[in-house]
Amino acid sequence: MNAFLSVLQRRPQAPPPVWFMRQAGRFLPEYRALRKGHEFLDMCTDPALIAETTLMPVNLLDVDAAIFFSDILIFLPALGFGLEFKEGEGPKITKPSGWLDFKVLNPDRQMKSVLEGMRRTREALPDGKALIGFAGGPWTILSYLIEGGGSRNFEEIKSLLYGEPELFIKVLKKMGESVSLFLQAQQAHGAQVVQIFDTWAGRLSYHHFERYYLPVLYKIVEEAVRHTPVIYFGLNLTPYYPLLKELPISCLGLDTPASFAQARAVFGPEFPLQGNMDPTVLLAGEEAVKSEVRRVKAEASPNPHIFNLGHGVLPQTPVGRAVTAIREIRRTD
Ligand code: CP3
Repeated sequence: MNAFLSVLQRRPQAPPPVWFMRQAGRFLPEYRALRKGHEFLDMCTDPALIAETTLMPVNLLDVDAAIFFSDILIFLPALGFGLEFKEGEGPKITKPSGWLDFKVLNPDRQMKSVLEGMRRTREALPDGKALIGFAGGPWTILSYLIEGGGSRNFEEIKSLLYGEPELFIKVLKKMGESVSLFLQAQQAHGAQVVQIFDTWAGRLSYHHFERYYLPVLYKIVEEAVRHTPVIYFGLNLTPYYPLLKELPISCLGLDTPASFAQARAVFGPEFPLQGNMDPTVLLAGEEAVKSEVRRVKAEASPNPHIFNLGHGVLPQTPVGRAVTAIREIRRTD
């Protein structure tokens, strides 16, 4: 069995398996070259390009897992929203009138080419490498959707949350259903693990996380974990550990400020953790990278650990630094 999947079954591996969030993206010159000829959204919907891009970091860096090339916002057009990625500006989402009545996703019908990309990727991937599927957490997707793009203070989504809580809960549940169905469709098409990217869940009050959000997450995780292990990742989640512990997740992804000791104190020593090297150290120099790799490995060991960054790899990261990191991660002396 693949070392990555073994860790998710609570069997620690030395050296730990490794992959990097956002490994199939702009920090790879091969990605930038391919991207010159295609729109980002076309790359996410063409099965051959999905497979090619997903495999890039596996071939170039020999990471232990491939993350399916897509985006957390990929299914919004299928729900009737306008979605554009403008160079250097991030996503721009437009909402039709009456948008709160958006439908629940039907992945088999509406995400055919994406799922075909998943199937082809699994077919092309060497047996020893795991394929990770993913979706955004419904709060994170809705925050982009409601704000129309990235946001600093989440004013729009929070106006809905505080102003019309019943409507907000209804919309949150509906988005949760789409996320759940999409994850299960990915699992049916070759994803051996799924990760929920809930980047902005840490902006909810503890009270709202507990009251509104936890039941929605619970339902998604409960359904997904019947088929494959589930990793949950977000920024600034430490205050919610007692709540997250109630979820049947297989692994928690730690962001850079998180502490393995604090997570283990809540989740227990056997619980798999993923993370959490600071992505900016990869800009700092070879020696800094090596010593930070050793520090993170030591902090996480000897418990079940998947080596990763605390957030996505930065676009300006030299590929050689990622290679150095992986070499150091795999050093066993
Ligand atoms: O390598 C991988 O991890 C797989 C692909 C992947 C992408 N986006 C590709 C992408 C994954 C897992 C994501 C997740 C994602 N997308 C998140 C959660 C993780 C995180 O970073 O917090 C979020 C919040 C998004 C939304 C999103 N997509 C933003 C804000 C942006 C623009 C800024 C940016 O980071 O690039 C995107 C665009 C995007 N998603 C690109 C890629 C490769 C860049 C598109 C391009 O080539 O111009």
